[in-house]
Amino acid sequence: MINLKEALRAVRRADFIPDRIFVSGPGNWLIPLSRDQQPERWAAMVASPSAAVVTKVARDPLFPPELSDPSTGRGMVATSSSSAPELMAEMIEALELEPGMRVLEIGTGTGYNAALLAYLLGSENVVSVEIDAEVADRARGALQRTGYRVKVITGDGEQGYAADAPYDRVIATAAAHTVPYAWVEQTRPGGVILVPWAETVHPDGRLARFVVGPDGIAEGRFISQAFFMPLQGQRLQPHVGFAAEERWEQAGRPDFTRYGITVTERGQTIWLDSPEHVVAAQESP
Ligand SMILES: C[S@@+](CC[C@H](N)C(=O)[O-])C[C@H]1O[C@@H](n2cnc3c(N)ncnc32)[C@H](O)[C@@H]1O
Repeated sequence: MINLKEALRAVRRADFIPDRIFVSGPGNWLIPLSRDQQPERWAAMVASPSAAVVTKVARDPLFPPELSDPSTGRGMVATSSSSAPELMAEMIEALELEPGMRVLEIGTGTGYNAALLAYLLGSENVVSVEIDAEVADRARGALQRTGYRVKVITGDGEQGYAADAPYDRVIATAAAHTVPYAWVEQTRPGGVILVPWAETVHPDGRLARFVVGPDGIAEGRFISQAFFMPLQGQRLQPHVGFAAEERWEQAGRPDFTRYGITVTERGQTIWLDSPEHVVAAQESP
């Protein structure tokens, strides 16, 4: 039996969060907060079910380098975080897990979500891919210390992890605007792929839930709201988001539930109401 409530009680988020985190400071820039110096604030952040906790930052490549300043956080962006537990729980629910299922997670981050999945399915059924080697090492350490022997692969999650495919479920915990076909290929027919969607369809970040058909075609619909940092390599230039919002306005602001996405080996199409009414098409690279 899958018991998510029990998993959320049993897996302690604090075991996965490093001592140095980042919080919004003056001007909303991300500034470091150390557990040693502010133990109560650190604990409150980590205990909050609705707060994402930023664990790593880097210079924002879109920000003028001469104006950025890591000491005040100006021009820095979050590159890794522990997503809000409430959101993780919602995403795990949307996966409709059953005992024995095998899951591929893209974006290990702290390893907290991988630990929840391991609690629910068994560590041997969870593989997680993280692109940042330092972040992956830290997650491996935390998972080992807490007794979850999840396989953490350092690499680009856009390739999936073919060696252990097929998976029953693929869950990305970073936002995408394009579904890498490797995820579809590595999911068994009838399997589910869950992807936080970048703002290319609707001005709000939405969660896309795809089902893979026996023909190797994945079809997705948007479910709830979810804002995530982008996958490295899938960061949107601001003008793309503005253009998408304009298109959405011109279409009469349709509800997100009216949109769908079809992914084939040749590319992906985003459509409104039915696959014949394509609003954006993109060929595979
Ligand atoms: C929001 S965090 C993931 C949260 C994580 N699931 C947890 O429970 O802590 C997103 C992570 O995705 C990673 N990431 C970004 N692009 C990636 C890619 N192409 N492949 C694998 N990981 C990626 C980032 O380095 C970051 O650690």
